Amino acid sequence: MARVVLFGVMDTAELAHFYLTHDSEHEVVAFTVNREFLKDTEFRGLPLVAFEEVETIYPPQEFKFFAPMTARGMNRNRERIYREAKAKGYELISYVSSKATLFGNPIGENCFILEDNTIQPFTTIGNNVVLWSGNHIGHHGQIKDHVFFTSHVVMSGHCVIESYCFFGVNSTIRDYMTIAEGTFVAMAASITKPTEPWGVYMGNPAEKKSMPSHKIY
Ligand SMILES: CC(C)(COP(=O)(O)OP(=O)(O)OC[C@H]1O[C@@H](n2cnc3c(N)ncnc32)[C@H](O)[C@@H]1OP(=O)(O)O)[C@@H](O)C(=O)NCCC(=O)NCCS
Repeated sequence: MARVVLFGVMDTAELAHFYLTHDSEHEVVAFTVNREFLKDTEFRGLPLVAFEEVETIYPPQEFKFFAPMTARGMNRNRERIYREAKAKGYELISYVSSKATLFGNPIGENCFILEDNTIQPFTTIGNNVVLWSGNHIGHHGQIKDHVFFTSHVVMSGHCVIESYCFFGVNSTIRDYMTIAEGTFVAMAASITKPTEPWGVYMGNPAEKKSMPSHKIY
């Protein structure tokens, strides 16, 4: 059981507070955001403090940290806070729903794995990975760091997901695929061939599209 400081005051942080409170042994003790977003002194009845000085109020020797953020900036926003919290000396927890199905899969730190994910045997999950609800994560696969699966994604067996990828709702990945770093897979896209780094893929079968960066995450 750890006492945990949670990063954020938006929906994802509020949900993380709910999940940790109702479905984990951890206790959330405070929230933190960057000073420029600090508009109040509390959130959900708990202290809200500036991230810039959080380690002086909640020392890393006594408290752990969790930053379950969105995929904004193709997961690099979440990566930045993850790295900064580690640099302050914090150990980051992961949350895995009691309603997810796992088979002893290795899971990294700062992962947020919600209900109804099925992670089949021999698949590994890296650090700072979000699996929103209801994904099928096939066997003998590898999901690297800073990856975001939304919901109802099917990752077939023997796939390698490189870092920073994003998968829209209901997207599908054929077995034995390698999804290159920073690939954006649109909702309902069906990936039948390996992708190119930082490519945007749409349709069935999926094709690479040019897309202004403000349109993706
Ligand atoms: C790829 C994506 C970013 C495009 O968004 P957008 O640029 O706002 O798209 P628009 O709604 O303006 O549509 C532009 C065109 O692309 C088409 N289109 C949009 N999304 C599409 C998709 N996933 N597959 C195929 N075509 C798509 C639209 O029909 C439209 O076609 P038209 O110009 O012929 O009318 C968006 O579809 C997507 O996948 N977002 C992720 C959604 C998601 O998973 N949300 C969960 C968040 S937790």
